Amino acid sequence: MEKTSSDTLMEPELMPALKEQRQKKNTPFGMMKAIRIHEYGGLEKLIYEDVRIPDIGPDEVLIKVNASGINPIDWKVREGQLKEMVTHKFPLIPGWDVEGIIADYGVLVTRFAKNDAVFASLDISRNGSYAEYVVVKSKDVAFAPGILPQSAAGVALAAQTAWMGLFEEGRLKPNQRILIRGASGGVGTFAVQLAKIAGAYVIGSTSEVNIELVKSLGADEVLDYKKDDFSKLRNLDMIFDTVGGETQTHLWQLLNRGGMLISTVGISGNEASGYGVTGKAFKMIPSGARLQDIAGLIDRGALRVIIEKIFPFSEAGKAQKLSQSGKTRGKIILEVQKRQANDRKKH
Ligand SMILES: NC(=O)c1ccc[n+]([C@@H]2O[C@H](COP(=O)([O-])OP(=O)(O)OC[C@H]3O[C@@H](n4cnc5c(N)ncnc54)[C@H](OP(=O)(O)O)[C@@H]3O)[C@@H](O)[C@H]2O)c1
Repeated sequence: MEKTSSDTLMEPELMPALKEQRQKKNTPFGMMKAIRIHEYGGLEKLIYEDVRIPDIGPDEVLIKVNASGINPIDWKVREGQLKEMVTHKFPLIPGWDVEGIIADYGVLVTRFAKNDAVFASLDISRNGSYAEYVVVKSKDVAFAPGILPQSAAGVALAAQTAWMGLFEEGRLKPNQRILIRGASGGVGTFAVQLAKIAGAYVIGSTSEVNIELVKSLGADEVLDYKKDDFSKLRNLDMIFDTVGGETQTHLWQLLNRGGMLISTVGISGNEASGYGVTGKAFKMIPSGARLQDIAGLIDRGALRVIIEKIFPFSEAGKAQKLSQSGKTRGKIILEVQKRQANDRKKH
């Protein structure tokens, strides 16, 4: 495989050359364009190169990628922050959210056919979707909702994290009072809407600039984490925490006895039991069936996807940099290749 190591994404003067190369569609037969990291490190480790189109297993599908959703895990993996938890084989293609069409499928796959529009959250121990093609276990895939491919690409990882935290780990019930920390982020924007759909009383936390956004998602109350006094909050049945950190210490006392703090980032300290409450961190496990329910809510108009910015494929570094700022409203998207008008088949 020929590595175009000079095509480092962080060298803007090379970008026009890369664009021209892509426009000429000069990818060798059986090869695809992909962005890979060959070792952990900074943004300069994202390398644009020609890579062999991956083979599929009997229970897998090959997705022609339209768009990849950017998530904080993309740059956490690149920096090696998760190396004690996940074993990665280099070179690695990042990007564990995808929307695209089925290009091929294994002999055991009966649910999908060629040209079906699909979306999925991918196994983070395998190659991701900063590439023209990606292979996924068919059990993790769902038919895409009827929204723009770029919007659908931002759904699977974040919305499934919100769903799993609220309903599978937390067992949220109607009329329960829940505080959602990080309500304007990728996971939080879905969590606010899903908790409201489930009939909960939702209090979201964000900074001043995002208060209107979180209200527009249906939150009953929105607190500014930089100004408002959280200690006045009482009678919470659940806290869904996508922020973590030291401030978590002050949250236990806000919960009713028997209440639960569910975290996407971890539990600091072991004070929960002293308050008669539980703290639980979890890792999202993708499920095509769960994702299909989420697609149904989007199609029904009950769940919106908030997009912060769409970047072209050549700007993966800029997209990760924006995610790393911690200031994302909703989702950041990498558009890998534009869907052709006749690409999509209705299911
Ligand atoms: N366990 C899992 O399986 C799993 C799955 C998905 C994500 N995660 C993790 O969950 C975390 C959140 O993911 P994400 O995609 O939602 O991230 P994100 O989109 O980058 O979140 C950014 C948002 O967080 C808000 N925020 C920052 N500090 C805050 C605070 N102290 N209080 C309230 N809001 C605050 C920001 O609002 P302002 O700009 O207003 O500050 C911004 O809108 C990440 O660490 C991610 O790695 C874990």
